[in-house]
Amino acid sequence: MTDKKSEDFIADSQFEPLKPSAKFAKSARVNDDMLFREAQNDRLAFWAKMAKNLKWNSKWDRILDDDKPPFYKWFTNGKLNVSENCLDIHINNGLGDKKALIFEGEEGDTQVLTYKQLLKEVCKFSNVLTKLGIGKGDAVTVWMPMIPEAIIAMLACTRIGAIHSVVFGGFSPEALKDRILDSESKMVITADGANRRGKVIPMRNAAEQALEECPSVEKVIIVKRTGTSYKTKPGRDLGWSELMADANDRFEPVNMDAEDPLFILYSSGTTGKPKGILHSTGGYLVGVNTTFRYVFDHQEDDIYWCTADIGWITGHSYIVYGPLSNGSSTFIYEGTPDYPSRDRFWELVEKYKVTVFYTAPTAIRSFMRWGNDHVDKRDLSSLRLLGSVGEPINPEAWLWYHEHIGKGKCPIVDTWWQTETGMIMITPLPGLTPLKPGSASWAFPGIEVDVLDDNGNPTEAGQRGFLVIKSPWPAMLRTLHGDPERFENTYWKQYPGLYFTGDGAWKDKDGYLWIMGRVDDVLNVSGHRIGTMEVESALVEHPAAVEAAVIGKVHEIKGHAITAFVTLKEGYEGSDELVQELKSHVGKKIGAIARPEEIFFTYELPKTRSGKIMRRLLRDIAEQRDLGDVTTLMDPQVVATIKEGYTEK
Ligand code: WT7
Repeated sequence: MTDKKSEDFIADSQFEPLKPSAKFAKSARVNDDMLFREAQNDRLAFWAKMAKNLKWNSKWDRILDDDKPPFYKWFTNGKLNVSENCLDIHINNGLGDKKALIFEGEEGDTQVLTYKQLLKEVCKFSNVLTKLGIGKGDAVTVWMPMIPEAIIAMLACTRIGAIHSVVFGGFSPEALKDRILDSESKMVITADGANRRGKVIPMRNAAEQALEECPSVEKVIIVKRTGTSYKTKPGRDLGWSELMADANDRFEPVNMDAEDPLFILYSSGTTGKPKGILHSTGGYLVGVNTTFRYVFDHQEDDIYWCTADIGWITGHSYIVYGPLSNGSSTFIYEGTPDYPSRDRFWELVEKYKVTVFYTAPTAIRSFMRWGNDHVDKRDLSSLRLLGSVGEPINPEAWLWYHEHIGKGKCPIVDTWWQTETGMIMITPLPGLTPLKPGSASWAFPGIEVDVLDDNGNPTEAGQRGFLVIKSPWPAMLRTLHGDPERFENTYWKQYPGLYFTGDGAWKDKDGYLWIMGRVDDVLNVSGHRIGTMEVESALVEHPAAVEAAVIGKVHEIKGHAITAFVTLKEGYEGSDELVQELKSHVGKKIGAIARPEEIFFTYELPKTRSGKIMRRLLRDIAEQRDLGDVTTLMDPQVVATIKEGYTEK
């Protein structure tokens, strides 16, 4: 937890809350406290009412089954299909020619799919999957760039009842391998390559390193994106367009049980092994459908852009399932904000007349640093609502976003949630909530959260504690794939009966929640979750390293920068070359996002008597060093001296 003093808390909450303009409020979906009152009156009835916005093929007979906590079930025995709710129902409502998916590639190529067209593609791919022997309950790994085929693949999985496991394209082949094996995927869908800042990154060839060690994979489907060559493995490798060419474009959605698994998404935890977070069909869709509609104030002519990658939960919930189940037009971009130039995002907002824009604080801080010129030369007048997700947004970035991107007229929804929660949990409602820059305000209707002290008592205003969720919610994770025990231990043991979020938080006198970030050994680097243990395990797999401790050092843009302290084996000398080698070693093991920013060599790691690494001490050491200081060898005396000033716990 950050070491804020109580005066800082008070200072943070001193902003005069910013009310939505009368104009925005007037046409907003929510501009009074009706939803809150309904939910307060009868929480389950509220969720049942929300569920009725979806098409169910048979109705549930129980809203919430809480017989065996924490293994909750929602809408038991209800039957529905996710792709039907994302596609067919809108076509039946006359929206067939509305744009569902708008895509722009890094090189400026574009593709627009209307609801009718997207349905056809999804049906064709459903037939492809079925023909290849994939059916209900089978796991399919998707390792792809941000291209329409990725979304078509996800929706087709839901249409046939297969469980997708989307792995972020930036993860390394080794990380991909672990996830394919853990999910026991029978199929992998990938691309020949990905465009990244004007270069081509081979994907299929990289995937081969993983596939060699994944005997469960029977078929690999490869989208041609970059024209990168690869050696086909006959009988296993198949081309996307060849398969699609003669596929039938109709496919009846498979009727799924509300509790059937929908997808697995791997996320970092406090051990070296990522957690396979399992979401199920009915509750998840109710949660993301409802929150998308009210948090992003869904209006019929919106062009909605969430800049996340589909490899993260934000991409699942708020690029694909939330927007499409509401019949919105969702925009996706293949590339990065700084290529070919630093106004790329604003060029796209201008070109597509984006109305709702959802991004991460780390991106906002980069935009700030790049300067206002890139922003000011573009017409951003189409924007009406902005969102933030992934980490606490500092008031300075919030105010910049509000002024320079929103031109002072767009509310900002700072949305707190997690891979585990599946849906937004704490957020303003843009037509209603007076905003305090830096606060995610309060819980969404039907969601009950609190901040507790060590003894489980609610904290006083201004006192920090742990954020918990007090009652089950529809889109909650159901378990960790293959490890129900870890599910119970990670989330439900700290405060029996309550969901432990792993975040520190405090409430101000007006009841606004201020999230302070992780209190466990999980880092938030540029809005991505990385477990310290994962990086540590990767480091010690290198022959030179004996032991490693990884901490997050406060970083201006990224939130946290990964900093590693490494002790070396006899015979190894700390050098800049070794630093580089260890960095690329971690990049290879996990992916570029996990590469440490700094590595220090030290003779010992400071530990408590019980052997726990004193991370707070290491953080202080790392943060006291000058940024320009590139010496890699720690003075062992530094650790010892500073350690004296710490009381061992
Ligand atoms: C962790 C979850 C949920 C999508 C992206 C990240 C942090 C997320 C906020 C926010 C403060 C936030 C928390 C949380 N976080 N949104 N608006 N304000 N912190 O998903 O990888 O599962 O990470 O991200 O620490 O626990 P994730």
